[in-house]
Formats: sequence, C-alpha cells, structure tokens
Amino acid sequence: MEIIENSKLTVVGAGSVGSSVAYAALIRGSARHVALYDIATEKVEAEVLDLAHGTQFTGSSDIIGGSDISVAAGSHVVVITAGAKQKPGQTRIELAEVNAGIIRSMMPDLLEVAPNAIYVIVTNPCDVLTVIAQEETGLPPERIFASGTVLDTSRLRWKLAQRAGVSTASVHAHIIGEHGDTEFPLWSRATIGTVPILEWETPGHPRFTLDELQEIAVDVRDAAYKVILGKGATNYAIGLSSARIVEAILSDEHAVMPVSTVLRDFHGLDGVALSVPSIVSAKGAVPIRNTSFSEGELALLRQSADALTAAAASLRP
Ligand code: LAC
Repeated sequence: MEIIENSKLTVVGAGSVGSSVAYAALIRGSARHVALYDIATEKVEAEVLDLAHGTQFTGSSDIIGGSDISVAAGSHVVVITAGAKQKPGQTRIELAEVNAGIIRSMMPDLLEVAPNAIYVIVTNPCDVLTVIAQEETGLPPERIFASGTVLDTSRLRWKLAQRAGVSTASVHAHIIGEHGDTEFPLWSRATIGTVPILEWETPGHPRFTLDELQEIAVDVRDAAYKVILGKGATNYAIGLSSARIVEAILSDEHAVMPVSTVLRDFHGLDGVALSVPSIVSAKGAVPIRNTSFSEGELALLRQSADALTAAAASLRP
C-alpha cells in the first residue's frame, strides 16, 4: 500500500466549513501538513493562528495558510469550500451560478501550484460544480470529485443506529444521488450488522415500518435546512466527513464511499456527477460499476441525474 509521506492537504476557503475541515483534519491527523487558503487576508490569518495555537494537542500535523495561493503549493489533496453559502430556506442548487463563477476563476491558479493534487469539491451545489470544474480543467474524473453524500450517509446511519439501538459503525446503508433535494437511500442493500434493515428486531427495538423508513429518508434529506435555520450554517459534520475522505486518499485506502464523480456509462448515466458507492484511493475516486439497484432506485437515480443535468446545462455558455 502506498502511503504518501509528508502529505499535504490544502483547504480552500476559511469560512465556517473550510475552517472546520482544517480543524477536523488536524485533530484526526488526516495529513502531515494542512494549509488554509482564502482571499480574505485577515480572516484566514486569524483562523490559521487560532488553529496553530492548538497544535500542541493535535499530534504531528501542522497548519500554515494565508491569502497567497502559493500556500497550496505541492498539495496532494485540495478540498474546496470557497463560495456563497445557503441562506435559511435556500436550496443548494440556487447557489450554482455564483459558485460556478468562483470555482471557474480559481481552478487555473490552483492547478498551477498543485498540478498533481486530487481535488475534492465541497462548495455547493457540489455535484454541479464538479461537472463544471472537471470540464474546465480537463482533469480525469477520478481526480476531481465532490464530497457528495458521504455526509448524508453519516446522517442516515446515525438516525438508523439511534432507532435500532446499535452503534453508527454497525449500520451499513448509503444515501446516493444528488447532495441535495433528490437524494435517496439505497434501502435494497441496507443492513444492520448482516440483517436486512426491514428484518432488524431486538428487545425494545421493534421492526422498522416502510413509513418510518420514508420519514427517516426525508429527515436526512432536509437535515441541513434544519441546521442552517438554527445556526446559519452546517460545519462540524461536513468538516469531519471531508477529513475522512482526505484520509482515504492520502492513505491509499481503497475505501468505499458515496462520493460524486462525473459518470461515464454508469447504468446508462453519462456526463453528470452524482454520488454512487465509489472506491477512494491515492488515485482519486472510481465508481463501483456493478453496484446493483432495484428498479425503483434506478428510477430515483435517473431523476436525480435529470435535475443535476439541467442545473449544469444552465451554467454553460
Ligand atoms: C450540508 C451542506 C454541507 O449538507 O451541504 O451540511
């Protein structure tokens, strides 16, 4: 297994999401070096100082940063969080135009200083922006992908775990599709331990009903709206899930994660980015082609693809 020594992660954007990605990466030791870049000099310098002041307690990782793009030089992974964030009630897709402009203008400079990096797009709408950035840069799809529904999957597993009375790590279930309003759980493959989700039953934890599963799916889909309404943004969970993706890349883990890549001939889908179970390694992310879906799930996947294709088309000149 190839493990990158002296690994370097750059996080682009020092807002609440970017700072939380850097914070989670430092605490988890996701990379040997973490850099934070933002055009807002005072803000990024303050965030870097605040993070650096804690590095006695973070093991061997360190942090640098600033408003000069050269801080990203030589990165192995670049996580992009820069852009406008959702206001309460706003959808992710509504951010597409303004954030596509930001991503388009940033990518050439980033590629110049970090030509060999794997790029992970967290800025929303992350699926649409992945298509735009992949087209703009011409990078192979495995090298530029979105965090996608890794976070939504964690939200789903947490809810199922609470209800089933087991640890989150013992729930095997995935949210796939758009990171947004058309996402859905792959119920046909969901298990707790080895038990299919609908058969799970222990004392004090009766069987799930179909209605209940539907409610859980809706709750997960709308989770970010709820958090944004209460505190203006989501940051901790996206920080942790992004750090986890970075680790899978830097440790060449070949971990299975629902990240979002531009698909090529995937169950009839082409040129659209959405999350499906993929293998994440030092080479980037590759969708698992023989993932099987029920007919209903395939129809939902197509609906998600249609929504995202339309959103991306509206952004092309
Ligand atoms: C969320 C944001 C990151 O789902 O889209 O929390």
